[in-house]
Amino acid sequence: MVDRLFADAGLAALYDQMCPRGQRADFDFYLPLVMSARSVLDVGCGTGAMLKEARDAGHSGRLCGLDPASGMLAQARKRPDIEWILGDLASTGWDSEYDLVVMTGHAFQVLIEDDELRRSLAAIRSALTDDGRFVFETRNRLSRAWDDWTPENPVEFTDSEGVNVRMTRRVTATVDDRLVSFTHTFISPRWNQPQVSTSTLRFFDAASLSRFLIDAGLFIEEQFGDWDRTPVTAASPEIITIARKDATRPSRIPRNRAGG
Ligand SMILES: C[S@@+](CC[C@H](N)C(=O)[O-])C[C@H]1O[C@@H](n2cnc3c(N)ncnc32)[C@H](O)[C@@H]1O
Repeated sequence: MVDRLFADAGLAALYDQMCPRGQRADFDFYLPLVMSARSVLDVGCGTGAMLKEARDAGHSGRLCGLDPASGMLAQARKRPDIEWILGDLASTGWDSEYDLVVMTGHAFQVLIEDDELRRSLAAIRSALTDDGRFVFETRNRLSRAWDDWTPENPVEFTDSEGVNVRMTRRVTATVDDRLVSFTHTFISPRWNQPQVSTSTLRFFDAASLSRFLIDAGLFIEEQFGDWDRTPVTAASPEIITIARKDATRPSRIPRNRAGG
């Protein structure tokens, strides 16, 4: 089920103000890759901010954003010059169509269960052209970003009409420092009560991530621990991966163990 934060039209409309372009070093990393690829799939594209920036910068090829959250996609669809698809990787059947598949803004971490992750990686591999690349990032499990997700660390911003909004996070459960469940609470004079959304994210270390990629027939071409391209260490905040299709392995979508 998609988080309320992304499905709700009112909360999704706050996303670009909460994560403004000026604070997004990730876009500076991804955009040159997007601009140099003929066809790009952005999985978990959200409001589509990155593909919109690529089109504005003169990208003339295929740009496609995929997201299962109606609130986020409603924001994205304000731009008709990009392809937007409401859904997730399980609902697609692309075969060798994209030079580049990206998952930005830690969207990769919404893939929680092993089966879901394996099926998604297989779908991404299938969507890639033979020399295509899959580029994405996850927060490094070992750096425990969630320790700072407390009400003492609010994010304050103004919405598109200049009204103040305060967002806080609170961790509600962790499993093996791998799955972290938490709430986002939004307070604003706009509403007479706080707006709460619950989320669970999966955190990876480099070794566990590598196993999933290799099993999916993807090999790691480059990996960085932060947006300045420093190497991954235990203390790195991010694990940023550029992966390629391993052409020596056959393409295979794993069957859903639960449903067959
Ligand atoms: C933190 S937002 C990142 C949005 C955008 N990529 C960015 O960089 O701003 C995570 C996005 O992942 C989407 N999402 C949730 N579940 C998903 C799934 N199973 N497959 C793909 N995207 C998903 C959410 O709807 C949300 O838009």
